[in-house]
Amino acid sequence: MRLSFLNQTAGKIKSDAIIFFFFEDKALFEKQKQAVLDLFPGTKAALDSGDFRGKRKSCTIAYTNQDGVTPRLIFSGLGEADQLSMERIRVAAAQAAKEAARFELKHCALYLSQLQNMLAFDVAQASVEGIVLSLYKFDKYISDEDERQFRLQKLTLFSDDKALLNAAKPGGQRALQYCEGVTVARDLANAPANEIYPETLAERVTQLGKSAGFKVTVLDKRKITSLKMHGLLAVNKGSSNPPAFIIMDYKGGRRNEAPVVLVGKGVTFDTGGISLKPAPGMAAMKADMHGAATVIGTMVAVAKAKLKVNIVALVPATDNMPSGSATLPGDIITYSNGTSVEVDNTDAEGRLILADALLYAARYKPQAVIDLATLTGACMVALGHVTSGMMGTSDILKQRLKTAAGRSNEYVCELPLYEEYEEQLRSSVADARNVGGRPAGSITAGLFLKHFTGDYPWVHLDIAGTAILPKASSYKPEGGSGVGVRLLAETLSTWEKM
Ligand code: BES
Ligand code: MN
Ligand code: ZN
Repeated sequence: MRLSFLNQTAGKIKSDAIIFFFFEDKALFEKQKQAVLDLFPGTKAALDSGDFRGKRKSCTIAYTNQDGVTPRLIFSGLGEADQLSMERIRVAAAQAAKEAARFELKHCALYLSQLQNMLAFDVAQASVEGIVLSLYKFDKYISDEDERQFRLQKLTLFSDDKALLNAAKPGGQRALQYCEGVTVARDLANAPANEIYPETLAERVTQLGKSAGFKVTVLDKRKITSLKMHGLLAVNKGSSNPPAFIIMDYKGGRRNEAPVVLVGKGVTFDTGGISLKPAPGMAAMKADMHGAATVIGTMVAVAKAKLKVNIVALVPATDNMPSGSATLPGDIITYSNGTSVEVDNTDAEGRLILADALLYAARYKPQAVIDLATLTGACMVALGHVTSGMMGTSDILKQRLKTAAGRSNEYVCELPLYEEYEEQLRSSVADARNVGGRPAGSITAGLFLKHFTGDYPWVHLDIAGTAILPKASSYKPEGGSGVGVRLLAETLSTWEKM
């Protein structure tokens, strides 16, 4: 989709439809309505009917019946003015975009105006995010053209206020860069495991690095072995696909500045291994590499946005398969830092491979490390599909993520890593066990990871509930949500040295 900006009045815009936002507050609704009717008197019946009153999540289309102007207007409700937020704009924009897609309109224009005291940058960013993200569908395997998602070709943001338009421009562009990252993440997460396995994931990342502008290094099984990444090797043991350890390197900051390291769980399919998962719903585990998809999407977003920070992203990639050569419950592995772990349950594989990556991260002497993983079903039980679980050792880093969560609406909720939970991970035959039983399953997973973090500030995000969505809503599709890309990109866009 092409994005353009125009300093113009609505009456002179040539497009298939113009989108207008409305507040539901009586006086504001009437004012907006009058402004529209002054230019497009033909839409009077629609605006007078009372069918559309500016309520949030409501939307209508009206025809201008006038020569030489845009033939349709789409009105989308923002709800109460004092409740305005970027999220409400995303939702209203998504609603309008879906209306436009229903009629297969190729070119839409969106009227930008001062909304309460919100910055024009934010209004534009939220509008573009809502529109672009809502028009996503994983449909590349669907042959019937009518079943595929209609895609908008051109979006014009316009305003008669030149200063406002200039302030809005970078916000709209920023949104487009972030959305490219989100789309990459959604596509990777939704791709089935016969398309995306460690080798093809590494190839895909190499291509993305070339086009977006970051360096990619792929460590193969030999290198992984010589680095003693015994967690990754143990999880991979039952598979006929070799593992990969993917390293992405983006330099936007000063040459010698320590990087922020991102780590993403890259389990390309999780059967549970010998501790096999039940069959119903297992297909969802093709998205068990969403943590990886998120950090890859984030690298695309930050490279496109040319953020001024150095970032390294690490992805340990493997599938988790049962076979005659698979790791068995009770097996003991020893990590490169000397920590021995009893693998009590082969389905707790994510933490096993993340441990290697967290150990590897230390060599960068990073300013901070953030890992993301579809780690525990327990996190989904606790927080549902709305909020990711957050744990970690740095209050400053947690606060930064909370701030970015407010802006991106990708919520995080902190769970405590109290040392009292540690005893659940105790093993009688090794330094630790890889599972801590049913109580506080997300916390014991986080505590397991903590064993392998260096002295760097660290936060772990459990995205098990937020990454894989059972149904579509507003601008989020069913399946891989792309969660975390906008959260991380927002965090990094205002990064200050830690
Ligand atoms: N990938 C799963 C967690 C998961 C479950 C993600 C549902 C998304 C949706 C993870 O590898 C796993 O199997 N975790 C186990 C841990 C248990 C064995 C301690 C779980 O949550 O049941
Ligand atoms: Mn598992
Ligand atoms: Zn898993």
